Amino acid sequence: MNQDANRRSQRAVRQLLESWQRSGVTYLKQFEPVAQNSDSPTPLVEPPHHLPVQADITSTPEPSIQQQPQTSEMTEEPIRESDQARKEISVPRTTKSKLNKGDRQAELDIIASQVSKCTRCPELAETRTQTVFGVGNPRAKIMFIGEAPGADEDKQGEPFVGRAGKLLDKIIEACQMKRSDIYIANILRCRPPGNRNPTDLEASNCRGYLDAQIEIVDPDYIVCWGSVAAKNLLHSDLPIGKMRGDFYEYGRAKVVCTYHPSYLLRNPSAKKNVWEDMIYLFADMGIDLKAQD
Ligand code: URA
Repeated sequence: MNQDANRRSQRAVRQLLESWQRSGVTYLKQFEPVAQNSDSPTPLVEPPHHLPVQADITSTPEPSIQQQPQTSEMTEEPIRESDQARKEISVPRTTKSKLNKGDRQAELDIIASQVSKCTRCPELAETRTQTVFGVGNPRAKIMFIGEAPGADEDKQGEPFVGRAGKLLDKIIEACQMKRSDIYIANILRCRPPGNRNPTDLEASNCRGYLDAQIEIVDPDYIVCWGSVAAKNLLHSDLPIGKMRGDFYEYGRAKVVCTYHPSYLLRNPSAKKNVWEDMIYLFADMGIDLKAQD
């Protein structure tokens, strides 16, 4: 691995660790040393215990992740959930990322590769066709967060490509944007069987990946599509209808919550509410969507 790639992967792993930390992870077991011989490929990332734990991207000092000896794979260990701790130390980045587009994409690729091997949620790992990481502009101003992949996404490996995705594309178009302008991710990176809702533990297991994506893309705005996204990102128990019409903060990002496109497919009359929410969001960016009707 050349020096640049090595530096990038170290930074990506560090960001991932930091975001797990903010998600309530209190320890990680140590990697077993990887047996190296001339046939074995160079590991994509260095074991985390080689990395400095302290963040260099936020000014807030954070507690260090305690490591325990003996483990097989970082991805095999279910994350211990501590909702209270997670609420208290979920402090996403407050400073603007200085990374260029290429570096952000490289970091996202490293996390995506880790996600593709993730087995933290055994049921999801067994039943998925593939993981669905996220897609779009790694320097997007706006990030969309949905719930979890459905059957189409599980097949194609990309978020929002099914019926709900087609409606989302229309909403994006109505906002005079292209899908490639935005970064799109979900609370979960695996399809829950039968499209059931993600469990709290699954959302918690996947949170570090989402936080890493948010940190890397560093959007100015986040749209939570539906109550699962809103509740999980913001740790709120309010119904989605009550969360609409306000900006919430997630680190540097202003967050808008609105109805999920799947809900709109069942309740087309709510499309006007989503349109109001888009007008509200774009007005904050200085763009008058009404004038573009
Ligand atoms: N619904 C979601 O929330 N996410 C997807 O990726 C697809 C459907």
